Amino acid sequence: EGEGWGRMLEPEELLERLQAFLTPKDLKGLKLLVSAGPTREYLDPVRYLSNPSSGRMGYAVAEAARDRGAEVVLVSGPTALPAPWGVEVVRVESALEMREAILGRYSWAQAVVMAAAVADYRPAEVSREKEPKVAAEKVLRLLPNPDILKELGENKGPRVLVGFAMETGEGLARAKEKLLRKNLDLIVLNWVNREGVGFGSLENEVVLLLRDGRVLELPRMKKRQVADRILDLVKEFWKG
Ligand code: PMT
Repeated sequence: EGEGWGRMLEPEELLERLQAFLTPKDLKGLKLLVSAGPTREYLDPVRYLSNPSSGRMGYAVAEAARDRGAEVVLVSGPTALPAPWGVEVVRVESALEMREAILGRYSWAQAVVMAAAVADYRPAEVSREKEPKVAAEKVLRLLPNPDILKELGENKGPRVLVGFAMETGEGLARAKEKLLRKNLDLIVLNWVNREGVGFGSLENEVVLLLRDGRVLELPRMKKRQVADRILDLVKEFWKG
C-alpha cells in the first residue's frame, strides 16, 4: 500500500495523455516559445496593476504544440492554471521579468507565440513597504513598459512570430498596423468586449491576419481549437 506504484493519473489527465499520444507529430523538431497570462506591476508589496487574462489561450497553444511533437517553453504570468506536463514552464510576474525570460530563450526558439496580456505601463515608484492609506487624493505616475514583441520583431531572423491583438469594435485596421509594425507573420485578433470570448473564457472568436495579406475569420470555438489553427499556420511559415 502506497509503495511500489507511481502516482495514479487522474482520469482527466489520462484522457489528455491518450489524446496527446494519438495526435500526429507534425511539429516534431519545432522549438516553440509561448507566453501566456497577465503581468503584475507592483506599486508596493501588496498592490499591483494587472488585467483579467487567465492564461488559457497561451496554455492551449503550449499544450496543442506539445501534443503535436514540438518542444515547448511556456513563459507564464500569474495564473490559476496547473503547469502543463511535458512543457518547460518559466513563471514570471512583471513585464520586465517576462521580457528577460523571453529574450533569454529567443536564440533557442524557432517560433514565438505571444498570447500574454503584457501591461503597457508600470508604476514609476515602487515602495518597499505597504503604502499607508491617506485621505488625500493620490496621483499615480506610470512609465511605459518595453514592447517585448516589437523587440522580437526587430531581431526576427528566420523565426516565425505570432502576436495577438486585443481590440474593441473596429480592430481590423489596428491589428493590421500591429502586424506590420512588429514585423510579425501572423496576428490573432480577438475582442475584449464580447460575451463568452477573450479574457478568461473557454472559447475564443478570432480573425487571423497573415503577413501575406490573407485574412481568415474563424467561427467561435474552443481555445484549444483556435490554438491548433494558429499552429497550422506556424507550421506553414516554419517549413516554407
Ligand atoms: O489569457 P486568457 O484569459 O485566455 O485571454 C486571452 C487573451 C485575450 C489575453 C489573448 O487572447 C490575447 O489577446 N493576448 C494579447 C493581449 C494583448 O496584450 O494585446 P495587445 O493588443 O495589447 O498587444 C499586442 C501584442 O503585443 C500581443 O501579442 C502582446 O503579447 C504583445 N505585447 C504587448 C505589450 C507589450 N508591452 N509587450 C508585448 O509583447
